[in-house]
Amino acid sequence: MAPMSRVLSGIAPSGNFTLGNYLGALRHWVALQDDNEAFYCVVDLHALTDSIDPAALQANTCDAALNMLAIGLDPHRSAIFVQSHVPEHPRLAWLLECTATMGELSRMTQYKEKAERHETVRAGLFTYPVLMAADILLYDAAAVPVGDDQRQHIELARELAIRFNHRYGETFTVPEAIIPPAAARVMDLQHPERKMSKSVESPLGTISLLDSPDDIAKKVRKAVTDTDGEVRYDQDAKPGLANLLDLLAAATDRTPQEVAGAYERYGDLKNDVAEALSELLRPVRELRAELEGDPSHVDQVLAEGAARAHAVASATYVRAAGAVGLLPPAP
Ligand code: TRP
Repeated sequence: MAPMSRVLSGIAPSGNFTLGNYLGALRHWVALQDDNEAFYCVVDLHALTDSIDPAALQANTCDAALNMLAIGLDPHRSAIFVQSHVPEHPRLAWLLECTATMGELSRMTQYKEKAERHETVRAGLFTYPVLMAADILLYDAAAVPVGDDQRQHIELARELAIRFNHRYGETFTVPEAIIPPAAARVMDLQHPERKMSKSVESPLGTISLLDSPDDIAKKVRKAVTDTDGEVRYDQDAKPGLANLLDLLAAATDRTPQEVAGAYERYGDLKNDVAEALSELLRPVRELRAELEGDPSHVDQVLAEGAARAHAVASATYVRAAGAVGLLPPAP
């Protein structure tokens, strides 16, 4: 049997996961664990690039781990772990910071957007994509399932792997992004011109993974559309409606154009969107409730995940440190 290829991905522990996270990336993580050796981490070190209350960070990290199990990640197959539990992440990030340039990091659009919103910019926000590259390269991941907004970060990880290999000899696997086509970008229900995001305050515009069917119905009913009343898929002219069509398409494995053809009235479409999303998230809600009854289970999953991750990450780190000429510690 051919060895399974590795995949790695990470999610920040910034509060509730959204439907956007789920459709854009998380449900593909679940599918990928069938044929790949998968590593999935909660990137708590990345969360420190923003101001976050220490108690909230800790609570959110546990919450993210619970959600990873609730969506159906199987700890027997996938290593589920917390980034900071594997000390090679920041160690390799340093080697990669000495590979990356100020110029290329300055061109990262996510950095530019976030930096604009702050008066002072943390150095960690600037080097965020390098830590992300370390996350990926430590596991020789061939593929990285992410949402569309992470495309540029994966491109940087590839670039750094290629440059490092060229400079110091073959060390890293050059990763590929896996970006799902349908609903790779789920938009805010109230502001369909922007991404549905857990970090932007928009309670009515954001569906969370654990919303009740009633909450989902209410938010979908209030979703912004337009006044011309015609159901057709047009992302530019009718962004709100297009988002609803994208959502129903993603939830029912159809194209948005097919979905559009089946409706004449916005109200009927909205009812079916609410119903489909509620059903899609039902198993997640149910498993999450079950897991909450057994907190020690999550601790155990994270301990085992970190041990598996560490075994791979430490070997890669030693290889990289040796390649750049760091003196190995005496055994
Ligand atoms: N930057 C990613 C995001 O915002 C999170 C992330 C951190 C990640 N490290 C990663 C994703 C490594 C994939 C691989 O979604």
